[in-house]
Amino acid sequence: MSLDIAFVKAAELIVDQDNFVRAVLSGRRRNMQTNYERIDIRPVQLKDGLKLQLILSEEKQNTTKNIDVDREKILELLNSGYANVLVEFSTGSYSIRITKKGEALIHESKGTFERTVAHDRAKERLLESTDSFLIEVGISDHKGSIKPSMQDKYRQVEEFLRILEPALPEKKEKVSVVDLGCGHAYLTFAAHQYLNKKGIQAHVIGIDVREASRVRNNAIAKKLGITDSIEFRAEEISDTPITSADIAIALHACDTATDDAIAWGVQHNVGLLLIAPCCHHDLQVQMQEIPEPWPMLTRHGIMRERLGDLLTDSFRTQILKLLGYRVDAIEFVGGEHTPRNLMIRATKTGAKPEPNEIARYKDMLAQWSVNPALAQRLEKELGAI
Ligand SMILES: C[S@@+](CC[C@H](N)C(=O)[O-])C[C@H]1O[C@@H](n2cnc3c(N)ncnc32)[C@H](O)[C@@H]1O
Repeated sequence: MSLDIAFVKAAELIVDQDNFVRAVLSGRRRNMQTNYERIDIRPVQLKDGLKLQLILSEEKQNTTKNIDVDREKILELLNSGYANVLVEFSTGSYSIRITKKGEALIHESKGTFERTVAHDRAKERLLESTDSFLIEVGISDHKGSIKPSMQDKYRQVEEFLRILEPALPEKKEKVSVVDLGCGHAYLTFAAHQYLNKKGIQAHVIGIDVREASRVRNNAIAKKLGITDSIEFRAEEISDTPITSADIAIALHACDTATDDAIAWGVQHNVGLLLIAPCCHHDLQVQMQEIPEPWPMLTRHGIMRERLGDLLTDSFRTQILKLLGYRVDAIEFVGGEHTPRNLMIRATKTGAKPEPNEIARYKDMLAQWSVNPALAQRLEKELGAI
């Protein structure tokens, strides 16, 4: 279909004041630049009438802007360089994917989407507090209300799912997930329930060195009747015989268990790694010869510790980058809920590293005279770049 016709149809759906639910513009067309990484559009009822709210997402921040429901303005946005357009309306969805040749591939489907126009819409819950898994793992009470003492954990689960959702491999009907250092398996069960709720068949394995975790978590899985698609094993991350997964997660796995998890993911070619590091002791101990002028930052214990954490995670992200991953470090959940709120999100691209990035990594190692745990585990892979 011609692009113009496809855009006109999308614009008409967006300005439909009774049925439009939301639209997303994302990706970048060949040889075109976009002002934002992604634009989300939804209707919003303000005092001066119905408007369209645009959430303009950039790497580090989102800006919200309300505009009039105006077909020409929408056509302008649709034409501003995005490669994917998704429009949802009350009775279905319409999507356009623009190929490298500039052709529009259209996909239309029927479905029911709920339209909300309230201005301060509460953040949509990804899992209802009454979900049976939340009751079984002890986040919700038997009536399905979040326990006051588990609010932070619930928040963590929700935020984790919000990060997982857009990072999911496209058009996959089946996804395998390994949770390394799963502990009480809040996030392991959450990933399982959420993916299945989205119609993605998930096979999930949680591993933890503690036998008690295996027994407890398998018993919960049995109660929930999901033992065909979720299992728990008592293993050291570095010794697990599991050899593949689409997604590996490791949330607050202690100290260098995080490095074991990243190394496992890299060595088994895992497409998506979601890693929230925990305590860092490895470099703290190695940071003996502090290069000038950094002693200014290491003189005081608390600052030295924070710098050690940052160095550790910087080495981790750089190593992943050098080994063919697109990496970002993002805030996992607000600092008021956990001080361990950094997440490393790494997606395998297979891209060859730039020589200056390799040099930067080597300089940094040399300056600090350290050999990070992750570099030790991936020595062979790093030696091959
Ligand atoms: C702080 S808990 C986090 C649990 C869970 N991921 C969460 O976010 O709720 C860390 C878990 O990692 C496990 N663990 C630590 N080192 C491990 C290793 N080398 N292999 C497997 N599990 C490990 C611990 O037994 C513990 O249950």
